[in-house]
Amino acid sequence: MDFELTEEQQAVRDAAREFSRNQLLPGVIERDTQAIFPEEQVREMGRLGFMGMMVDPKYNGGGMDSISYVVAMEEISKIDASAAVCMSVNNSLVCWGLEKYGTDAQKQKYLKPLAMGSVHGAFCLSEPEAGSDATSQKTIAVDKGDHYLVNGTKNWITNGSTASIYLVFAQTDPAKLHKGISAFIVEKGWGGFTVGKKEDKLGIRGSDTHSLMFTDLKIPKENRIGEEGFGFHLAMKILDGGRLGIAAQALGIASGAYELALAYSKERITFGKPISQHQAIQFKLADMCMEIEAARMLCYKAAFLKDQGRDYTSASAMAKLFASEVAMKTTIEAVQIHGGYGYVKEYHVERLMRDAKITQIYEGTSEIQRIVISRSILRQ
Ligand code: CAA
Repeated sequence: MDFELTEEQQAVRDAAREFSRNQLLPGVIERDTQAIFPEEQVREMGRLGFMGMMVDPKYNGGGMDSISYVVAMEEISKIDASAAVCMSVNNSLVCWGLEKYGTDAQKQKYLKPLAMGSVHGAFCLSEPEAGSDATSQKTIAVDKGDHYLVNGTKNWITNGSTASIYLVFAQTDPAKLHKGISAFIVEKGWGGFTVGKKEDKLGIRGSDTHSLMFTDLKIPKENRIGEEGFGFHLAMKILDGGRLGIAAQALGIASGAYELALAYSKERITFGKPISQHQAIQFKLADMCMEIEAARMLCYKAAFLKDQGRDYTSASAMAKLFASEVAMKTTIEAVQIHGGYGYVKEYHVERLMRDAKITQIYEGTSEIQRIVISRSILRQ
């Protein structure tokens, strides 16, 4: 067992840290306040290789391991969790599924531009009545010979209006319930594809979240991923990796807030000394540091298992559950350490506190993660 990052992983961390500080930090408060998507910054993330980190270089990816991905996600999420979720969705929800289960033609056409970040993707599973209960898909895809005719609505879609390529899940055989769900690749701009309203959110306000409507959308047969009925299994496999990405995002939000609180505690003077010299603050810092380290270890372990090709469903659920709870707790404490200054935008921690909340909700709520973990325990 070796707890050190390799030289390559350290280089990834340093590059992500430099990019975040130089290119994400300027304007992050304005983007949050005005709900502006970090378009130019996401393009730069593509140029730097952060949008297809684990994809094979033959499809324009970085060929890196999952620990490097976790390390980069942590650094980027420390500064801008909205840019981070765009990166996470592209890497783990879109590129991974396409690389693992797509045909070579699909990879040539769709994975290559996604992995180099010249375009980015979206993952369309959730519906108005199918969030946690993801098997209850109402979107219907009817077989019309050389294509499917698709009707339905998707909700809460990250990168909803800015993506160019969408992985869409729909029922091809409702009688078979979840075994009748199939997965498709959809291009923006096809007739019958409408981007609905943009959500006005509590946190990750720079991320681009929309509903999508499909009205007699034609999807060519060659754009189905895997066999008919493979869609739910594919969504679950993809979400195993997605949850690791969100765990790393939560880790970054927590460690970003902790670093700010630690620095502030050394500067802020009360009762004649820096507040870091008061035991009440020291205890908070100790808990934050310990819990963040534990969250990081759970993320690294899940990433390690994934790279070994071993089962990591429960490990990624544990990482996400724990890291997201730590993110919420740590950011609340970071605001508390900052006192009144923590309650205003200029000091960043109130944004991180709002951003933390979503990590307990998307890609499976904390309650869903407990279902996944407990089922795994009881199966053993
Ligand atoms: N890998 C592979 N297959 C899996 C799996 C996994 N991790 N988990 C479940 N499955 C399979 C099961 O083996 C089962 O297959 P069979 O019927 O062939 O045996 C099938 O999936 C159904 O499984 P369950 O019976 O366990 O189904 P369930 O209805 O009880 O639901 C659930 C399971 C884990 C709760 C699932 O519904 C779930 O994960 N819900 C949450 C959905 C979610 O995370 N949504 C996030 C939306 S995406 C998002 O947020 C992205 C974004 O934009 C940021």
